[in-house]
Amino acid sequence: MRASYDLQGRKALVTGGASGIGLGAVEAFLRCGASIAINDLPTSPRLAEGVERLKSEGHDVVAAPGDVGDADDAPRMVRDAAKALDGLDYLINNAGTPGTRLPIPAADFDAQDEAFWDKLLNVNLIGPYRCTKAAAPFLKASGGAIVNTASISAHGGGGSSSVYCATKAGLVNLTKEWARALAPDVRVNAIAPGAVDSPWECRFPDMFAEIETIVPLKRVGSPDDYGDTILFLSAGADYVTGQTLNVDGGLTT
Ligand SMILES: NC(=O)c1ccc[n+]([C@@H]2O[C@H](COP(=O)([O-])OP(=O)(O)OC[C@H]3O[C@@H](n4cnc5c(N)ncnc54)[C@H](O)[C@@H]3O)[C@@H](O)[C@H]2O)c1
Repeated sequence: MRASYDLQGRKALVTGGASGIGLGAVEAFLRCGASIAINDLPTSPRLAEGVERLKSEGHDVVAAPGDVGDADDAPRMVRDAAKALDGLDYLINNAGTPGTRLPIPAADFDAQDEAFWDKLLNVNLIGPYRCTKAAAPFLKASGGAIVNTASISAHGGGGSSSVYCATKAGLVNLTKEWARALAPDVRVNAIAPGAVDSPWECRFPDMFAEIETIVPLKRVGSPDDYGDTILFLSAGADYVTGQTLNVDGGLTT
């Protein structure tokens, strides 16, 4: 059963919102009557298509194209989104990149070179910082909330690369830092997804078949599973801040 809140008049910005988990969160907020700014890369055809489709279904959505990995573009995008929505109640820092189509073994230091570090740090770690900083005045004014999309790879034990794991571990840590920094006005939490049924560009060979046997809940998580948890941490969970919730069908147990 899907979570539901009355979010008429509430406004959310979802980064990386044109696909996968981000789109799941967008659809969860829209189901509750919120107005949404959907961010994604300006080059993503899914952004314009998604906004068009959701508008035609009668939802209040605006496109907020921008690159969270760019120091100038990210705050510009957040300010434009807040202006278009006339404020912000929720920021979902969800955009992320693996920077590789195939997992890179931890021992392959050469493949994880300076350019790779720069790319992943910029998008996965500094990106959420840029958006959080730019959104903070609006969120403080509304008494809002932030949800970051981390990963269970933040806890160790494998991800698409060591660098990726480090960015997500950093985001778990920043979730606690920002929870203290923005309290009591703004709550800050994170989800740590396990396997996701999304168009994520990095694939572990045979991962889905394997996951279905080792995950206690016997299935891969859908964008709706993640979107619903983001909705709960944003609009419910009034006494929860600084926490990262594993959303992984029990995999980490
Ligand atoms: N898919 C997985 O297995 C998995 C597991 C754990 C965590 N995650 C995290 O979940 C989040 C969403 O991933 P997903 O699985 O929905 O994948 P996805 O590829 O469907 O969605 C990611 C979206 O982010 C956008 N994006 C990438 N770089 C961006 C940038 N610089 N600025 C703005 N938008 C950008 C992409 O265009 C894409 O639409 C990511 O942060 C990812 O790290 C994914």
